[in-house]
Amino acid sequence: MFKSIFTMAACALVLTSASAYGAPTHNPILVKFSHVVADNTPKGQGALLFKRLVEERLDGKVKVEVYANSSLYGDANELEALRNNEVQLLAPSLAKFEKYTKQLQVFDLPFLFDDLNAVNRFQKRAKGRQLLRVMEDRGIVGLAYWHNGMKQLSANKALLVPGDAAGLSFRIQPSSVLKAQFQQLHATAQVLPFAEVFAALKSAKVQGAENPWSNIYSKQLHNVQPFITETNHGVLDYMLVSNPRFWYAIPHQIRSELEGIIDEVTYAVNKQAEAANQADRQRIETSGKSRLITLDDQQRAAWRQAMQPVWQQFEQEIGADVIKAAQTVNRKQRN
Ligand code: LMR
Repeated sequence: MFKSIFTMAACALVLTSASAYGAPTHNPILVKFSHVVADNTPKGQGALLFKRLVEERLDGKVKVEVYANSSLYGDANELEALRNNEVQLLAPSLAKFEKYTKQLQVFDLPFLFDDLNAVNRFQKRAKGRQLLRVMEDRGIVGLAYWHNGMKQLSANKALLVPGDAAGLSFRIQPSSVLKAQFQQLHATAQVLPFAEVFAALKSAKVQGAENPWSNIYSKQLHNVQPFITETNHGVLDYMLVSNPRFWYAIPHQIRSELEGIIDEVTYAVNKQAEAANQADRQRIETSGKSRLITLDDQQRAAWRQAMQPVWQQFEQEIGADVIKAAQTVNRKQRN
């Protein structure tokens, strides 16, 4: 009797401490990671690296399933699915959170960041870090920023000066800032899920779009957009997100291991994103399918001048403090 009570107590102790330290006492924790781009993009590679490192290091305690190319959820439903814990990790573009916070729209303001390095500096500073947490009460917790790259304007005609965009319809992500940006050009904007962009451009439902090189190349958009202007007018970056109900219920030890892996993957994604985009730019140029138009300083200034009134239009919604904090990260200060 004494022995069996002792054995039961010892077993209970082992079980408690094992689960506290995350040993595989139960089924593995399942993390479904859904996204809308191809595997051969910065985000696609990041998702696969996360899966590999988790599987190598967590000894079967966590299982990761990656669903690329909108194969599980797409733009229309992925954030609701995350809030309902039907999926546990996403990395939507920062333009896709408007329904949950207006502050992240700072990233959509045209010509706010000089380049990806400036974006990186802002994301690392206090204001950028704070923005990772602003949607927690809406069921979304930010874990990291992942880069893609600066956006380029493409169309079925050459866009040299802002007036060239007038009258065209551009596909946009669901962001009021992006809509206003195209209105400044006397163009119209249509919100379409990423999965529909190629077909919409091919059929001329829309005549233009804005994308980083990696999204253009991996979705072959250059085959249906004969002109791409290298505007670098805005950024397309991501927030890796989970839902707080799921995330904070992960046993502490496992969660901190996952956080360490996320730091490592974030470093790798962000280090390689610019080079990956430049390599895709080169591939597009070599393909000869699309004419790449580069702008001199004066031409770029004209695009900047045409789009910049959007800043003031959204200053109140986004917060003047957020915009100011973002502006200070450029090396060359402007008014
Ligand atoms: C888009 O919809 O254009 C992008 O947000 C897609 C992506 O995830 O890069």
